[in-house]
Amino acid sequence: MRILVVGSGGREHALCWAIKRSPVCSALFCAPGNAGIASLATCLPITVDDIDGIMAACRTHTIDFVVVGPEMPLVAGMVDRLEAAGIPTMGPSAAAARLEGSKGFMKDFCARHDIPTAHYARFTVADAAKAYVETVGAPIVVKADGLAAGKGVILCPNVADALAAIDMIMTDRAFGAAGGEVVIEEFMTGEEASFFALIDGKTAVPLGAAQDHKAVGEGDTGPNTGGMGAYAPAPVMTQAIIDQVMETIILPTVTGMAAEGHPFKGVLFAGLMITTSGPRLIEFNVRFGDPECQVLMARLKSDIVPLLRAVPDQTLDQVDVEWFDAAALTVVMAAKGYPGPVAKGTEIHNLEAADAVTEAVVFHAGTRQEGGRILAEGGRVLSITARGRDVREAHDRAYQAVDLIDWPEGFCRRDIGWRALKT
Ligand code: AMP
Ligand code: GLY
Repeated sequence: MRILVVGSGGREHALCWAIKRSPVCSALFCAPGNAGIASLATCLPITVDDIDGIMAACRTHTIDFVVVGPEMPLVAGMVDRLEAAGIPTMGPSAAAARLEGSKGFMKDFCARHDIPTAHYARFTVADAAKAYVETVGAPIVVKADGLAAGKGVILCPNVADALAAIDMIMTDRAFGAAGGEVVIEEFMTGEEASFFALIDGKTAVPLGAAQDHKAVGEGDTGPNTGGMGAYAPAPVMTQAIIDQVMETIILPTVTGMAAEGHPFKGVLFAGLMITTSGPRLIEFNVRFGDPECQVLMARLKSDIVPLLRAVPDQTLDQVDVEWFDAAALTVVMAAKGYPGPVAKGTEIHNLEAADAVTEAVVFHAGTRQEGGRILAEGGRVLSITARGRDVREAHDRAYQAVDLIDWPEGFCRRDIGWRALKT
């Protein structure tokens, strides 16, 4: 099978790494990929928003199967276009991707199907949103409706902050068109975890749970990022809680989306708050998480290709998934300054030594190759991932690899996995 992966991050490197192991894969392409992916796949210089370019590449390279990594092309309808052209694709249609692309859609969907989540209200007029905040009080959460690269969520400890957040999103349009509407939510408390399921429109196969570290600073402090590290399994996600998540959140979503005429096919990523009254949904994403995907791929024992291919084929009821009896942990190395502006083009040395650490693999997240040199190309640059008997061993191996990397312009958090390690 000739396979094309769309995307360029650590998630896509991990997907290519897993796909490349499959005996079913005869040729692997990635658009646009990165310097690490280039050692596994033929990288095509096509950006993820160029649907016409991806369609043309599928014809040129006689692609049999496409796996879409990031949310943006999913929300923009890449899967609809590919499937209309007869190319089986792993990912949801634009209509189903609204579970991530519109927070208002997601909240109304949950309300219709009785899925446990924060109480909320939607507003398209700033004054009405402000009046609502004045009535219900704080703490409260203000969210831009549309995609905002993970930044459109503002946690407001008091009413003044919430009023300012509404102005920032709706009046100043800090997140552009994503701020045409706001969702205002109850502030939930508890421990957070991410849960993943592969869904073919009818059947949901659990892929397990992970925890990530969104804040840039140690002790989960400082501004939020795309994720500074992750580990799996997540101790907070006991089998009883996983069962509850499947029953109260994942399965009602599968049946609800199908009943409403836009069956969900792809990876459903539920961001959860484990509250005293059970797991409640914070948000849905319609794709693998980055860097959560890296730890899921490190733990996956089964051949991933038949699994992913069962999504468009709607044959997930016939597959079995096997996992290594191991924990996995990933540490993100970012360019100094991230999540703010960063310098590009700094050189990274000694990646081979890091890759050679037992059970460790260096996934690239934002790199490019120039001559024989590997250069940093973005905010999150590397995602160093390791497996171990438990989170402690995975942690130690990952940091052993991190410490071999020679990149003075980069940094990482030293405390990835602290929740799992504290006992
Ligand atoms: P999101 O982009 O929706 O995942 O939100 C980013 C982060 O904001 C989440 O990981 C939570 O830590 C936090 N968050 C979002 N919604 C809520 C909520 N209703 N209550 C408490 N925290 C929230
Ligand atoms: N790590 C969070 C995300 O992929 O959205």
